[in-house]
Amino acid sequence: MSSPHEIILAPSILAGDHADLKSSIREIKDAGLDWVHLDIMDGHFVPNLSFGPQTIKALRSASDLFFDVHLMLDNPHLYIDAFLDAGAEQITIHVEPDYPVAETLEKIRAKGCKCGVVLNPDTAAEAAVPYLPLCDIVLLMTVQPGFGGQSFREDVLPKMEALSALREEGNYKFRLEVDGGIDAKTAAPCTARGVDTLVAGTAFFKAPDRSAFIQTVCSKS
Ligand code: DX5
Ligand code: ZN
Repeated sequence: MSSPHEIILAPSILAGDHADLKSSIREIKDAGLDWVHLDIMDGHFVPNLSFGPQTIKALRSASDLFFDVHLMLDNPHLYIDAFLDAGAEQITIHVEPDYPVAETLEKIRAKGCKCGVVLNPDTAAEAAVPYLPLCDIVLLMTVQPGFGGQSFREDVLPKMEALSALREEGNYKFRLEVDGGIDAKTAAPCTARGVDTLVAGTAFFKAPDRSAFIQTVCSKS
């Protein structure tokens, strides 16, 4: 299965140096990449806290990377303005919590920001279907969200195929992104299934040879 898009690697600064995120973000740029993935956690939807719009705003003034903001929040609709104001260029929101998902996507789009939905590993592909016409991207979690450094869940591979098929059948152009446990070994089975956007935290920041890592994960399988 193929994607209409080139493969993009979006390192997550969750695995960066939180005492010096500016340097971590510079490392991404220096590696020749264009995107940074920013993981926002509320301690309710996921059992962890990360950082908020204030940090994103500060990083925004230090970077021209594309800011891919992944909201792991119970009430993302209450924080859209704050993240737009902070400089998000794409905002992804989970379908699992109870809030007006479609309205929130419409609000993000109306402000000229890209948007999409996120599905946890155990959430069925069908849960994304009502929102696909509104999505620039669909993010499939390949770990239970909340922490970096977890193992890739192979049981999500069929869902990548399902979303690729939905994209083809519906003639949609959304990017298909995966997040969690992506490394030099697990990227290929994803890209073979039409995934074109890879989030990597631990594997990127800990790679002994970053350009070799980037070349491996971004090569078309
Ligand atoms: C998990 C986050 C991921 C995470 C990925 O809740 O959404 O973006 O940082 O980290 P690794 O690549 O270490 O699994
Ligand atoms: Zn993420």
